[in-house]
Amino acid sequence: MTGEAEQQLRAYVEYFRDLGVREFYRRGEPVFAVETVAPAVAVASALFAAPEPVAERPIVARKPDFLEPPIANPVSFDQLAPLPKSRVPASEKAAALLAVQQEIGDCTRCPLAYAGRRKIVFGDGNPNARLMFVGEGPGADEDTQGLPFVGKAGQLLNNMIAAMGLKREEVYIANIVKCRPPNNRVPEPAEAGVCTQFLLQQMDIVQPEVVVALGATAALYLLGVKRSLSSLRGHWHTCRGAKLAVTYHPAFLLRDPRQKGEAWKDLQMVMAEMGLKAPAKG
Ligand code: URA
Repeated sequence: MTGEAEQQLRAYVEYFRDLGVREFYRRGEPVFAVETVAPAVAVASALFAAPEPVAERPIVARKPDFLEPPIANPVSFDQLAPLPKSRVPASEKAAALLAVQQEIGDCTRCPLAYAGRRKIVFGDGNPNARLMFVGEGPGADEDTQGLPFVGKAGQLLNNMIAAMGLKREEVYIANIVKCRPPNNRVPEPAEAGVCTQFLLQQMDIVQPEVVVALGATAALYLLGVKRSLSSLRGHWHTCRGAKLAVTYHPAFLLRDPRQKGEAWKDLQMVMAEMGLKAPAKG
C-alpha cells in the first residue's frame, strides 16, 4: 500500500471510529462491530466492499461524497438557491414545514445518522414567526426530546426571548444540523452541507423578518463567511430576504456570563428593528 493510500485509509478508519464503528474487517473476513445502529454496517460495507486481504489489492477506497475535503469557503444561504419569488400563505406554512420534515424522514444522508443519534431535531415554534433563531446542532437533551434548545443553553435562550418581550412559542428555532454531533463537536462542513438544504427550506417557508445567528457556526453557514464573531456582531446582514443579526451562542454565555451584556446589546438591536419593548420588571 502506498503511503498516501495508507494515510487515507487511516483517516477513514479514524473517522468511522469517531462515529462508533469499531472495526471494519479482519483479514479476508468482514467483521463489522458497530456500537451505534445497524445501518452503519451499510456505510462501512459501501466503503470497503471487498473483504480481500489488504496486501493483495490496492486500497482505493471509494470516497463517499460526505468525506470530501472540507469546503474552504462555504457558500451563504443566499448563494445556495434563488430567493423565493412568493410567500407561502400563512395558513399553509405549518403543512409546508411538515412536508419538509417528511422529506427528511429517518434521514441517513450524512454520517451523523450513524453517530448515536436518537431523534432528528427538525425545528420548533411558530410557522409564522417574525423572528427565527438558528443554533449549531442538537445537544444531548435535544437529541433525547427531538426539540431544539431544551437543555441548559435552551433555558438561557428562553430567558433571552422573554427579555425581548416575546414568548418562545412566538419565535421559530432551528439549527444548522438536525442530528447531534458526537460529543457535541462542531458539525463537519460535509454534514452541514448535506443538512442545510432543509433549514433553507424552513427559512423560505417561515420567511421571518429577522434571523438571529447564535454563535460562529450558525453565522458561518448562513452567511458563508469565515469571520470572527466580534466582526460580525453589531451590524445587520441579510439572509433569505430577512435581516440577520449575529450574537453569542447561549452555551458560550453559560461558560462566560460576562458576555451576557454584549449579547443583550445584540438583542436590543433586534428589538429596535422589530419594534419590541422589554417587559416591565415587576
Ligand atoms: N445548542 C445548539 O446549537 N442547538 C441546540 O438545539 C441546543 C444546543
